Amino acid sequence: MQYQDFVEQDRVIDEIANYYDHPPAAYVHSFGCQQNVNDGEKIKGVLLQAGYNLTDQVQQADLVVFNTCAVREHAQQRVYGNIGALKALKNANPKLLIAIGGCMVQQKEVVDKLRQSFPYVDVVFGVNAIEKLPGMLAQRIRVKKRVLMEPAERYDIVENLPIHRDSNFKAWLPIMYGCDNFCSYCIVPFVRGRERSRKPEDILAEFRSLVQSGYKEITLLGQNVNSYGKGLERKIDFADLLALLAEQEGDFRIRFMTSHPKDASRKLIDTIASHEKICKNLHLPVQSGSDRILVQMNRKYDTAQYLGLIDYARKTIPEMTFSSDIIVGFPGETEEDFEQTVELVRRVRYVQLFTFIFSRRSGTRAALMQDDTPYKVKAERINRLIKIQDEIAREEAALLAGERCRVLIESAARSEGQLSGRLDNNLVVEFDGDPSLIGSFAEVRITGSKGIYLSGELCG
Ligand code: SAH
Ligand code: SF4
Ligand code: F3S
Repeated sequence: MQYQDFVEQDRVIDEIANYYDHPPAAYVHSFGCQQNVNDGEKIKGVLLQAGYNLTDQVQQADLVVFNTCAVREHAQQRVYGNIGALKALKNANPKLLIAIGGCMVQQKEVVDKLRQSFPYVDVVFGVNAIEKLPGMLAQRIRVKKRVLMEPAERYDIVENLPIHRDSNFKAWLPIMYGCDNFCSYCIVPFVRGRERSRKPEDILAEFRSLVQSGYKEITLLGQNVNSYGKGLERKIDFADLLALLAEQEGDFRIRFMTSHPKDASRKLIDTIASHEKICKNLHLPVQSGSDRILVQMNRKYDTAQYLGLIDYARKTIPEMTFSSDIIVGFPGETEEDFEQTVELVRRVRYVQLFTFIFSRRSGTRAALMQDDTPYKVKAERINRLIKIQDEIAREEAALLAGERCRVLIESAARSEGQLSGRLDNNLVVEFDGDPSLIGSFAEVRITGSKGIYLSGELCG
């Protein structure tokens, strides 16, 4: 399905413009994962077409949009806190409109709570309803009643939504939406719906236009990129897609996330090995190092399979780095299970680890599992893990001293006069340089490391 400018676009733009007595500004904030950030860029694109300017100052906004995340209870509480803080703004400016979208509002109890406890929220729009937002705002203005969409699923992928990207050199490129895996702890399949792959020709067209516009790093997104291609007419898997994109002309590099270990293949590793433009870093979330817990999590692989793939990747691409997600304190996790996780972390030696304490999400299978471990014990475990990982990351960083690497310069660094660049392997190096270099590739010699950061100097 192709995006058509929203129905009755002129009327919608007029209604929005007439409501305010000055050109209105929209503040859009996305919580959660990269998929959500990319959706936020589309929300901005759609709002620009509807006549809004964008602002990054919430106090100056005539419209506030929160694009929410539901993955953990904590993420959700943060959003409620942020919505609560808008009440004062609305009191000061009664014309302020507030719209809430994203994963949280795909849950019925959240919409009910917004209806009952947050009367100053004007519009609720679902994950798959971004292009409907302007029409819903216009309706809110016209009928002077709140417009709260109930969670409903739509399976079509809408192509060609307008987009306002946050960066002019790094871009997100979704290749699929939704998830069919139903890991027992996870809410994503419930809020994002079934897995749907975009057509390769649509992905390729967007990819080419990004390269032509000067984008240097393109990250392919999906909850499980390795199951890309299911249900498409053309027979194509993720490794094929990756190769197709990496063979395009231009000065760019490709990243992708997330790989599910049950679907990541040796063909994928071979494809990464044979294409210079594919970054040598694999984010492969293991979640736990205990086979017993992996079964409970419904992850459909065991640690032997996982480590087999890591070993194959290391053998094929010695410079490859790895990162992972781990859940600590899954229901029933014993000290012994946790120690197996620590052992796996020590064995793989990740350069980055994203660690989370298990959060009960209602509607998921794990929410019904008995959980006797006190929170204090879980917190102690996660702190232990973070410490161990920190040490590993420092040691891994120190190994790179003396190497000459190509980096993409991303931003000013923490200290004045320094820039921050990202290596192909996802490590970050800081070095002296002029801010005009931000957004370009450069050669950097690694001179040492400070904690998990590398230090270096520009070559030539
Ligand atoms: N599709 C991706 C990412 C999903 S969400 C994947 O499969 O890896 C990102 C991470 O959040 C997950 O990898 C998991 O580690 C964590 N997570 C998801 N649900 C959680 C929950 N209920 N409690 C704690 N962490 C959770
Ligand atoms: Fe959640 Fe598992 Fe799907 Fe990732 S693969 S989004 S963890 S259900
Ligand atoms: Fe959160 Fe939705 Fe992403 S729940 S992690 S924003 S898919």
